[in-house]
Amino acid sequence: MLTMDGRQFLFNGKPIRILSGALHYYRIVPAYWQDRLLKLKACGFNTVETYVPWNLHEPEEGQFNFEGIADLERFIKIAGELGLHVIVRPSPYICAEWEFGGLPAWLLKEDSMRLRCSYQPFLNKIDAYYDVLLPKLVPLLNTNGGPIMAMQIENEYGSYGNDKNYLKYLKQAMVERGIDVLLFTSDGYTDSNLQGGTLLPEVLATINFGSRPDEAFGKLTEYQPDKPIVCMEFWNGWFDHWGKPHHVRDSKDVAEVLDNMLAMGASVNFYMFHGGTNFGFYNGANDLGKYEPTVTSYDYDVLLNESGDLTDKYWAVQSVLSKYTEVEDIVLPSPRPKKHYGEVSLTEHACLFDSLASLSTPIHSVCPEPMERLGQNYGFILYTTSIPGPISQAKLAIQQVRDRALVFLDGVYQGVIERNTHDIRPDVTDNDIVLDIPQEGATLSILIENQGRINYGYGMKDPKGITEGVRLGTQFLYHWTIHTLPLDDLGALKYTDVQSQERCTPTFYRGTFQIDEASDTFLKLSGWKKGVAYINGFNLGRYWEIGPQQTLYVPAPLLREGENELVLFELHGTENRVATLQDHAELG
Ligand code: GLA
Repeated sequence: MLTMDGRQFLFNGKPIRILSGALHYYRIVPAYWQDRLLKLKACGFNTVETYVPWNLHEPEEGQFNFEGIADLERFIKIAGELGLHVIVRPSPYICAEWEFGGLPAWLLKEDSMRLRCSYQPFLNKIDAYYDVLLPKLVPLLNTNGGPIMAMQIENEYGSYGNDKNYLKYLKQAMVERGIDVLLFTSDGYTDSNLQGGTLLPEVLATINFGSRPDEAFGKLTEYQPDKPIVCMEFWNGWFDHWGKPHHVRDSKDVAEVLDNMLAMGASVNFYMFHGGTNFGFYNGANDLGKYEPTVTSYDYDVLLNESGDLTDKYWAVQSVLSKYTEVEDIVLPSPRPKKHYGEVSLTEHACLFDSLASLSTPIHSVCPEPMERLGQNYGFILYTTSIPGPISQAKLAIQQVRDRALVFLDGVYQGVIERNTHDIRPDVTDNDIVLDIPQEGATLSILIENQGRINYGYGMKDPKGITEGVRLGTQFLYHWTIHTLPLDDLGALKYTDVQSQERCTPTFYRGTFQIDEASDTFLKLSGWKKGVAYINGFNLGRYWEIGPQQTLYVPAPLLREGENELVLFELHGTENRVATLQDHAELG
């Protein structure tokens, strides 16, 4: 059991320094959990840390999922079998560049919902989730012979709010359900962060930073002079946004900051040890005045790369750790081969507008409702209405577009309307869509992509689709047919052979390829513009020609010997119709 004695942590009464690395089970295929954890241990760490994303475990209200990539108990048990301690952050808000910071999108079904404060309807939903989640973790606590030695309350709450009753409620919710391991909060180290986010003096405060440990721990010590100092998130790399350069951080610099921190007697959790992948539609976004969606890869430029291989940073960090702890001599398996399978021809297609009946049941609505109100969480949503004519030169306005709309008039593409077009894509000039409606009227269709809910800060309440209305000039348009398109099951699509000159957008393209042996590989989509890729029905995530990410990671367990299927939902069309499975990543 982890306890504190002044500035020192004790484990079962003996001094311990927490040397921890973060890896998120939900960003790694389960077949690779053990491999990543073994590499963590071999580097010299004694602890693994993970968040727990509520939206993965309660995808619909009252429906729970703890299977496959969501099998948290199995992940913790594997860590325990390897002799690692485990820190769990079931916050229930996690930030983490994860969709809506891990909050379920269905919370936004009710307009009046308040987040991350002691608003009773919000607390009730947390209670219902904790009633299912926490009993699974109780047998895995140190105090019951398991590997979990500490748990976090909320996440960087001081950067968001100052409702102490809410923090106390969360603490109580954990304690009442049998969580009796060390509890802590984690925050930035400004005064307002430490005042708003902590439950001092009862609950250990930890801080998050990437550099200047003396300044950071100096500030923490002003608030908490008598407890161990912990950097709960040592940001040794960083994540990427679409349309912005790929982040890297120098290993030498990381090693130096680590050395300083350890010399000060601190405990540390590397954020991240291994980042992994935002599979499916689970990437988050940032918006502090400008909406910026996070890319599919969560490589993070850390000790293991996205496909789990050791980087220079791994060795640089291990050499510092070995100054402070005995690093066990563990022989690691040789790196997994990465395969170049070559080109895959996408020979069949299904046009979206011809396939609606197999993907969705239409809903008729006076106003264009956001997707959450229609029971949809992720993916795309299509709004269609008839406009009487004639009307000439009327400017189309979507109030508000969340996040990116493709506009069609009588099935003919008119252009794109993006949230903050000018910031994210300075090259897009067709943001003003001016329509001419003929005498006989026309059908207006607006296909909107949810590019990921905001996971950090005051803009987090981020319903998707159209939040208010659509106007031609100043006139709102009413009476809509809405198709929700979560695209989580493409099984009913009917494909036909692509004829050479045939083109429709958006389109599902399908191709098959044969392999003898399943290996890790990377899907490169040269010439493709923007969309979503599926391998054997598994949503690999989004691609976008603007980068920085140019390839999608395909872990071997998603492939099978013999025939495999690749489907691309391409929004803008391509002349190319060939994808490549290559042996290396290109992240920008
Ligand atoms: C904060 C959050 C983390 C993550 C990092 C940035 O520290 O607590 O969840 O979002 O920022 O990667």
